[in-house]
Amino acid sequence: MYSAKVMDHFTNPRNVGEIPDADGVGTEGNPTCGDVMQIFIKVKDDRIVDIKFKTFGCGAAIAVSSMITEMAKGKTIDEALTISKESVANELEGLPPQKMHCSNLGADALKKAIEDYRSRNK
Ligand code: FES
Repeated sequence: MYSAKVMDHFTNPRNVGEIPDADGVGTEGNPTCGDVMQIFIKVKDDRIVDIKFKTFGCGAAIAVSSMITEMAKGKTIDEALTISKESVANELEGLPPQKMHCSNLGADALKKAIEDYRSRNK
C-alpha cells in the first residue's frame, strides 16, 4: 500500500530532532487522528540552512516530515513556500487517498514555521 520511498523515509527518517535556537517553529496537528508535527527552521540570508522535525504520528506523517525537510533544505523562503501537499506526495511516489491529510500536515507545519520566522523578523 505504501511506495518504496514512503517506506524508506518512514524507516530511515532524515532531519529528525529539534533546533534549540531555531529562527522559526511551526506546529500543526490533526484533531481527527491526533497526529502532531513540529518543524524547526534555521534561516540565513533568506535561505533555509537547517531544518528538523519532531512528529508524533503515523508512518505516512513521519515519511512526509522527512521528505518535506529534504525538499525545503537549501531553498529560499519563497521557494519553500511553494512546497504543497501534492508536491510532497509526488516526491514520495504517492500516498494512499486516506493518507493525503498526512501530507497536508507537513505542508502546513512548514508554512507556520516560515510565518513564525517572518513575524520574528518584521
Ligand atoms: Fe493523521 Fe497520518 S493518520 S497524520
